[in-house]
Amino acid sequence: MILGISGSPRSKSTEYVCKQALQMLDELGYETEYWSVKGKQINFCTHCDYCKKGEGCVFNDDMRSLYPLLEEASAYVVSTPVYNGNVSGQLKTVMDRCRALFSRNHKVFRYKPVIAIAVGGDRAGGQETAIKQISDFYLMNGGLPISGGTFGANLGASFWSKDSLEGVMEDEEGFRSLQKTVKRLDKYIKENKK
Ligand SMILES: Cc1cc2nc3c(=O)[nH]c(=O)nc-3n(C[C@H](O)[C@H](O)[C@H](O)COP(=O)(O)O)c2cc1C
Repeated sequence: MILGISGSPRSKSTEYVCKQALQMLDELGYETEYWSVKGKQINFCTHCDYCKKGEGCVFNDDMRSLYPLLEEASAYVVSTPVYNGNVSGQLKTVMDRCRALFSRNHKVFRYKPVIAIAVGGDRAGGQETAIKQISDFYLMNGGLPISGGTFGANLGASFWSKDSLEGVMEDEEGFRSLQKTVKRLDKYIKENKK
């Protein structure tokens, strides 16, 4: 299963492009699931170190619905709106709260590929910095970030929404970067099945 995550608290542009990526993967024959931070209660990590016991997180909140999906998935599509030149606070909190998951099972992401999607209101509003944050998170925890390659999708999929759903739908360059990135993910998965 390939897990798509949206780091937007809204059902707008980030959700739209994440679901578009999952649809492309569905059409390539993959089973996909979608999970969003929208409407979820997700507490900040407080560094209480409860998770060092290896018994999960001290908080009993909506991260509970994400942990099993992260373990089950064999690849990830992680999308975020750009907030102040980086990922949303919600997505960063999800990353921090994964410490509890890794304490129990440090192989959760091991050798699993991930692609990143960033949606900014500005054309150059920090999409690449946000993509880097997602990639670095997986890299630090054993995952394998995949980009769409040079000439259009250097670090991953990058969208310019002009702060609206219509804006992102009209962003042809953004969709080109997404197609290139999804294609590389598909190729990586197929090459590594051999
Ligand atoms: C708190 C906040 C900070 C933002 N910071 C940036 C930014 O640094 N760069 C940028 O390009 N857009 C920024 N935006 C605009 C959003 O990235 C943009 O509207 C995006 O399409 C929102 O995604 P959504 O429609 O999925 O919620 C910011 C929006 C908010 C609410």
